[in-house]
Amino acid sequence: AKKVLSGIQPSGTLTLGNYIGAMKNFVKLQEEHECYFMVVDLHAITVAQEPAALREQSESVAALFIAAGIDPARSNVYLQSHVPQHAELGWIMTTLTAMGELERMTQFKDKSSGKDSVGAGLFVYPSLMAADILVYNADLVPVGEDQKQHLELTRDLAGRFNSRFGEFFTIPEPYIPQVGARIMSLDDGTKKMSKSNPNAGSFISLLDPPDVIRKKISRATTDSGREVIFDPQNKPEVSNLMSIYAECSGMSLGQIADRFEGQMYGGFKKELAEVVVATLEPLQQRYHEIRNSGALSDILAESAERARVVAAQTLAGVKERMGFLPVR
Ligand code: AQP
Repeated sequence: AKKVLSGIQPSGTLTLGNYIGAMKNFVKLQEEHECYFMVVDLHAITVAQEPAALREQSESVAALFIAAGIDPARSNVYLQSHVPQHAELGWIMTTLTAMGELERMTQFKDKSSGKDSVGAGLFVYPSLMAADILVYNADLVPVGEDQKQHLELTRDLAGRFNSRFGEFFTIPEPYIPQVGARIMSLDDGTKKMSKSNPNAGSFISLLDPPDVIRKKISRATTDSGREVIFDPQNKPEVSNLMSIYAECSGMSLGQIADRFEGQMYGGFKKELAEVVVATLEPLQQRYHEIRNSGALSDILAESAERARVVAAQTLAGVKERMGFLPVR
């Protein structure tokens, strides 16, 4: 079995993009591997968060992990801030990272563009992400396409540490889905669907009620054509809706094109909405059960305890190799 690690930021309610690009794979991977799935709250604060909202969203994301099918009896589900070794190794990784490497990160460019003041945390975020992965010596990191560049940096940092201080870290591999690795925004087929987009019509939240989902899909931007065909270059919006359909129904893109041949967008969108509703309804039901059960905090505490044991061992090895004097 391999070690698998991934995280999602509690910076809003999770979207269908987070589900398709990341969580669906988490559920698959736990069948065979030792998994660590975190709510990365330390990452969320790289953009200002209201304390009450951060608390609520952290709990909500953890409950959504479980509602999506992550089994806490098999996988570790916990908060990043409950394992202090992330922050400590994060600092160490920051010292191994070059400014130029961080300046090249497209996520930083996207999130900082047009802002008067940008927190330094947003800039060094990829170094903390590297620490998240390396602190467990993870082999596999299931992420959406947008995280590929950050993972490449993690691999470079692991290699850099190994060449300076001796072989120690596993070089992690990304695990990116074939279809759905980049679900796009409903109002703009060139931007990724994002939970922190101020326009709620641009994303489908995993907790949106059925009627809201129907409304958002019916209003989703499409091109002026009428054919339901997969052509991301020329028809990014329709192609995105087809990817969502494929991921929620299990049908292939070809089967979907055949099914809607000769029909216009309206009929396709109506059916898509029902497919999405059917996917999310059972998830939402489990979500409310978990939140109401009061069991969540115990699950998070137990997982964090297991994670701390592994992380502390790695960190001790790192510090020893780097020449930190032991406590005694
Ligand atoms: N649109 C997407 N399509 C496919 N995968 C996606 N992911 C995010 N958006 C899409 C994947 O979800 C995981 C968790 O992401 P995150 O919460 O750590 O941060 P993010 O990538 O910045 O996601 P958001 O929703 O866009 O959050 P905000 O708005 O807070 O920045 C990652 O594996 C990511 O690839």
